[in-house]
Amino acid sequence: MKNTKVVLNQRPEGALKESDMVLVEETLPALEDGEVLLEVEHLSVDAFIRTTFDEGAFHGTADLGQPIMALGTARVVDSRFDGLNQGDAVFGPMGAQTHAKLPGAMLQKLDESELPARSFLGVLGLATGMTAYAGMTWVAEVSEGDTVVVSAAAGAVGSCACQVAKNLGARVIGIAGGPAKVDYLVNEIGCDAAIDYKAGDLEGQLSAAAPDGVDVFFDNVGGEILDTLLLHINERARVVICGAVSQYERTGDVRGPSNYLKIPEKNASMLGFTVMRFAEQYPEIQSGITDWVLSGKLKLPEQVENGIDQFPRALTLLFSGGHMGKLLVAP
Ligand SMILES: NC(=O)c1ccc[n+]([C@@H]2O[C@H](COP(=O)([O-])OP(=O)(O)OC[C@H]3O[C@@H](n4cnc5c(N)ncnc54)[C@H](OP(=O)(O)O)[C@@H]3O)[C@@H](O)[C@H]2O)c1
Repeated sequence: MKNTKVVLNQRPEGALKESDMVLVEETLPALEDGEVLLEVEHLSVDAFIRTTFDEGAFHGTADLGQPIMALGTARVVDSRFDGLNQGDAVFGPMGAQTHAKLPGAMLQKLDESELPARSFLGVLGLATGMTAYAGMTWVAEVSEGDTVVVSAAAGAVGSCACQVAKNLGARVIGIAGGPAKVDYLVNEIGCDAAIDYKAGDLEGQLSAAAPDGVDVFFDNVGGEILDTLLLHINERARVVICGAVSQYERTGDVRGPSNYLKIPEKNASMLGFTVMRFAEQYPEIQSGITDWVLSGKLKLPEQVENGIDQFPRALTLLFSGGHMGKLLVAP
């Protein structure tokens, strides 16, 4: 079976370039006992992938010449693993490639009866909807009447996080780059207000959108946005560090928040989390999300780029802000 894979060509210096990745063709060897041959249907384009291009990465460092790490859904073409048969839909660590030969034990068989398989990368995705659900519910502990601000709000995690907070009874303000994203947040995602950080005067826009201050800041960006938000937190506010996409392409040290003294002054807390902390609650999270999706209370628009050759460009879009909702590649 022929496979086309995207491999790391060179370690990026600062901003990611498409030329940091390159396409390689190969022929996959025959299956061994316990293995499954897969045709990849959708790949999840996630911010964490960029972090694996650096030495000492939290999620593991990508080797030069190896397929780039990516979660995906696939169809079983051939199986030498009990429990998976030709035609089954599965989720797993596919890697950025058209086909994969993986141990069946690494794969999760998907139930496509309620939602399509690609939903397990988006609204039901571990690094997307499930992250937003767990972070907003159990880390931010959002409750009725809270004023919640979400950064990178028009992205995958952010779009879900805004809606989870709304469903928990909060007033929600999204921050994103550009007028089209502001429109998307208010008119599609249901935010009560949205801020265009690229238009400047974040401080003034925030004062206008949240005149009574902020109870929860769900941060995906870090840097200047986190610093500005800290100036607006209320007594007992929760600042939740979900990610820091502004820092993933840095050339020097990570920039920490200089306004962190607002935390003790406001008796506030700053908490980080990874979705893996909630492994025991995964079934509960998936069933909660499915109920909301089926009752129309949660949606995640998808932007699908077609062709494995589009994967390098798609990954750069995460940092240039060129997508809304969940970004997928259909190889
Ligand atoms: N804690 C966890 O377990 C966990 C799990 C998954 C993901 N995450 C985190 O969740 C965050 C979102 O990830 P995602 O995969 O859903 O990506 P995403 O939000 O779909 O894409 C990233 C977005 O970040 C914004 N952005 C990029 N550079 C920026 C900058 N310098 N300043 C401000 N905004 C910037 C862009 O939108 P604009 O056009 O608005 O700039 C872009 O759309 C990341 O920080 C990721 O690390 C955490």
